[in-house]
Amino acid sequence: MLHDTLDLAVPGPVIPVIVIDRVADAVPLGRALMAGGVRVLEVTLRTPVALDAIRALRREVPEALVGAGTVRTASEAEAAMQAGAVFAVSPGYTPALGRACGALGLPLLPGVATAGEVMAAADDGLRFLKFFPAAAAGGIPMLKALAGPFADIALCPTGGITPDNALQYLSLPNVRVVGGSWLTPADALAAGDWSRITALAAAAQALRR
Ligand code: 3PG
Repeated sequence: MLHDTLDLAVPGPVIPVIVIDRVADAVPLGRALMAGGVRVLEVTLRTPVALDAIRALRREVPEALVGAGTVRTASEAEAAMQAGAVFAVSPGYTPALGRACGALGLPLLPGVATAGEVMAAADDGLRFLKFFPAAAAGGIPMLKALAGPFADIALCPTGGITPDNALQYLSLPNVRVVGGSWLTPADALAAGDWSRITALAAAAQALRR
């Protein structure tokens, strides 16, 4: 059970952003990531099987913390929760989505890219936010700039984070964890190359500030 979105930052420094095209891949993928030590799984609602994938992961890989990514609306948040998602990640923030997740009791990690968006989310009680799209929205200099007025806000940069730059992001005081798709490359999923995914997960898990 997840009480606070900040708990998502505890199991490891990288949250995989996952796109699943075939529902049959969900469980072996989840097991491959867990074998590499990665426990928090963000399954994006970008494919028709995403909700079924979340259901399968909750059923078959119960020790994982499975959430839904790319949640944009209240109805998507509700569908994600019904499928068993224990948290939601959104690309941006709207008060309507914040209210919906609050009413559902579904912890929300919402995306922000500007000071005004940080303020809107903080107004609604959210203190752990995804900085998205991190590299395109100003990267490390922007995160350093946000740390001044928003020292009480923790951020999860996502979008353009790589194994080469992740440690630089993780060394910032306002960054607890980063998100990225590099742990689950589409070609590895297509080929069922689960050992490669375990190796990528283990390498990501070893990234520490
Ligand atoms: C996404 O939108 O898919 C996430 O932000 C992941 O971005 P990345 O592929 O740059 O890691």
